[in-house]
Amino acid sequence: MSRVRTVHRCSECSVDSPRWTGRCGHCGAWNSLVERCEASDLTAVGARRAGLAARTGLTDQDGLASWAGPGGVLAAVPLPITEVDGSGWQARPTGLGEVDRVLSGGLVAGSVTVLGGEPGIGKSTLVLQALAAMAGAGARALLVSAEESAPQVRLRADRLGALVPGLWLVSGSSLADLVSAVDDVRPDVLVVDSIQTVADPALGSAPGTVAQVRGCAQQLVALSKSRGMATVLVGHVTKEGSLAGPRVLEHVVDTVLSFEGERHHALRLLRAVKHRFGSTGELGLFEMVGTGLRGVPDPSGLFLGDRRPGVPGGVVLAAMEGQRPLLVEMQALTSPTSLAMPRRSAQGLDAGRLALLLAVLDRRAGVRLSSADVFASVVGGVRVVEPAADLALGLALASAFTDRALPDDLVVCGEVGLGGELRQVAQSERRLAEAARLGFRRALVPASTPAGQEGLEVVRVGSLSAALVWAGLDQR
Ligand code: TYD
Ligand code: MG
Repeated sequence: MSRVRTVHRCSECSVDSPRWTGRCGHCGAWNSLVERCEASDLTAVGARRAGLAARTGLTDQDGLASWAGPGGVLAAVPLPITEVDGSGWQARPTGLGEVDRVLSGGLVAGSVTVLGGEPGIGKSTLVLQALAAMAGAGARALLVSAEESAPQVRLRADRLGALVPGLWLVSGSSLADLVSAVDDVRPDVLVVDSIQTVADPALGSAPGTVAQVRGCAQQLVALSKSRGMATVLVGHVTKEGSLAGPRVLEHVVDTVLSFEGERHHALRLLRAVKHRFGSTGELGLFEMVGTGLRGVPDPSGLFLGDRRPGVPGGVVLAAMEGQRPLLVEMQALTSPTSLAMPRRSAQGLDAGRLALLLAVLDRRAGVRLSSADVFASVVGGVRVVEPAADLALGLALASAFTDRALPDDLVVCGEVGLGGELRQVAQSERRLAEAARLGFRRALVPASTPAGQEGLEVVRVGSLSAALVWAGLDQR
């Protein structure tokens, strides 16, 4: 049974509308809808094949009919779940411990991963190092560099110690050339750097547009699945996040990784935004050094390395980044001002949280900062946005304001409510265990916190003002 239906497809974002309109309801582009006929074959496999052909532009000659096995799209026969063969979905370690941590083991054959991040953050460096490590471990690896020339990449590889014979390199931006390079090399792992610079003339629109990026990515998804090859697509994201990039690919691919960091800091964070083969809670940490990216297995040690104990305004916070406890220093500085609108500066933390803490300190604890400039920051280039940082921020502000230092061996965590009450935070046990591991002796936590911790004196308080009294910072 088969029938033909008419759809109107946007040439910018490739989203279909049932009827023609002057403006695409999805991306808002004007006059971009083009009418097209689609044959939909209503037998199960046929329908899927037609859909796949429409999405990927591939035909039976491209092997469309034979896709099965690992990642096979046409697994049309129902089976009891216990009898489905899952052995094709083994993760292959990248050899970079911090990357494997985030990927729950490594890259899965037949899967497609997007690595997004701002220009200059280190994406090309990361993929080159990972490919070299995988090639060194016996994988066939192919890097398609659509942005840099082959000699440029070779020079970089030289500096990174990534000159490994099993790593193949091709420079070019046409999708057809890319596919034939894959045919030649038959890689286990393919990296395309970047997906925004690859183009398929058959798709019509200009390189870098949403339609191109999505169209090329869809063809690469089909190619990876048919070959059982793990593919990584590098994608640029701008500060506004508006560019045709990782966002438009999120639902097409299996995994979306985000590579982040402050430009002026060496610290880089890798997280999974979406991951079909594991949790998205893990965080990978790297430091950008002269020889590329170096994993940071002990981040708390790194963040607290330069701490000067005994300085008013500093307090150590037991934070969580995903599943990973991180001890970081929160710092505050206050100085009297005659400005009608005193300055409020928040670095590495949420400005809204700072405003809230200032109000709670004022109304519930008698710490009046309305005629002072206030600067607060999290040291080391990390960003802590969880409410568990509230108590640390409140103590840092009060400590800076009273010019009295907090004890060196103290670590804190807790959320502050609008009434000035303290609320317990998730995963206190892991936070306190990390604090004990790093030699802290005392922890100041909300009264309801369940966990105790060996080697740590756990001090429980019910409110921010009680915490200030305990620390000798109260104003009343
Ligand atoms: P790059 O990987 O090219 O970033 P992206 O691909 O995300 O645009 O790296 C960008 C920066 O990293 C570059 O400006 C310099 C720095 N860098 C180092 O500090 N050390 C190194 O060993 C390398 C290769 C790069
Ligand atoms: Mg790059």
